[in-house]
Amino acid sequence: MTAQILDGKGLANTIRQEIAVRATAFRERYSKSPKLVAVLVGDDPASQVYIRNKEIACQKAGISSEVLKLSAATTTQELLGILDRLNADPSVHGILVQLPLPDHLETRSVLDRILPAKDVDAFSPENVGLMSQGRPRFLPCTPHGVMQLLDRSGISIRGKEVVVVGRSDIVGKPLVSMCLQKSGPGGPSNANATVTCCHSQTPNLEEITRRADVLLVAIGKPNWITAQMVKPGAVVVDIGINRLEDRLVGDVDFESVCKVASAITPVPGGVGPLTIAMLLDNTLRAAEQQSER
Ligand code: GUN
Repeated sequence: MTAQILDGKGLANTIRQEIAVRATAFRERYSKSPKLVAVLVGDDPASQVYIRNKEIACQKAGISSEVLKLSAATTTQELLGILDRLNADPSVHGILVQLPLPDHLETRSVLDRILPAKDVDAFSPENVGLMSQGRPRFLPCTPHGVMQLLDRSGISIRGKEVVVVGRSDIVGKPLVSMCLQKSGPGGPSNANATVTCCHSQTPNLEEITRRADVLLVAIGKPNWITAQMVKPGAVVVDIGINRLEDRLVGDVDFESVCKVASAITPVPGGVGPLTIAMLLDNTLRAAEQQSER
């Protein structure tokens, strides 16, 4: 079998065009633009690239954006003061603090300071809680991108065995929660899975991954999932991005796994572009929610 390649990049372009249409309607209705402010502390090169890509995507979708570039020496107190100011500014609808923050900053206190109504990453306890109860305000961007990719590729997870590899707060845990719900972004067929979550302490990983009809991988280890860990015909979504010396690779050994899977995402060009598309979606939703009162 040679797997169908799931084209996240093409799909992200389609979604971004849909968002641009909604953003135009928003601007016409409210005579203002949806606005995202991204906060970047320090000069981590990968974060600078991500932030630049988010800025360009906002611009193309008709969403106004501003990047606050702060020195690596910024203190937690200074950052909290900046977030208080952004929280109180009615022209700012979405706030994002790019991670990872420099080690001396208290990441949890910083993220917790963002007003949940403006928390377009959906990292706050309130937004995580709402999602877990099946009444999301915002869905976290990368897991939401995965769900959109499955739905728009015609892949139902209802009643299927979904195995999530990785338990991070940003990807693994919210994916488990979303797959378990009674309805997803694409309706009931985009939810209602039987879900298993594996992690670094899971013995016999291969025994469990081989049960998966749909395997969602976010462990941050290059080429970790090989063909013998995948059930023939499974759908494999690779959420990893690992920088090797000369190229980017995912957590899935694409060359071997594409011979046994029925469908697979490439890296780059798979889930990554969808993350940014879903950030635009959340920013627009935030602007709509804050304007409809
Ligand atoms: N760094 C890596 N992924 C993310 C993300 O989804 N949001 C933020 N804010 N920072 C990140």
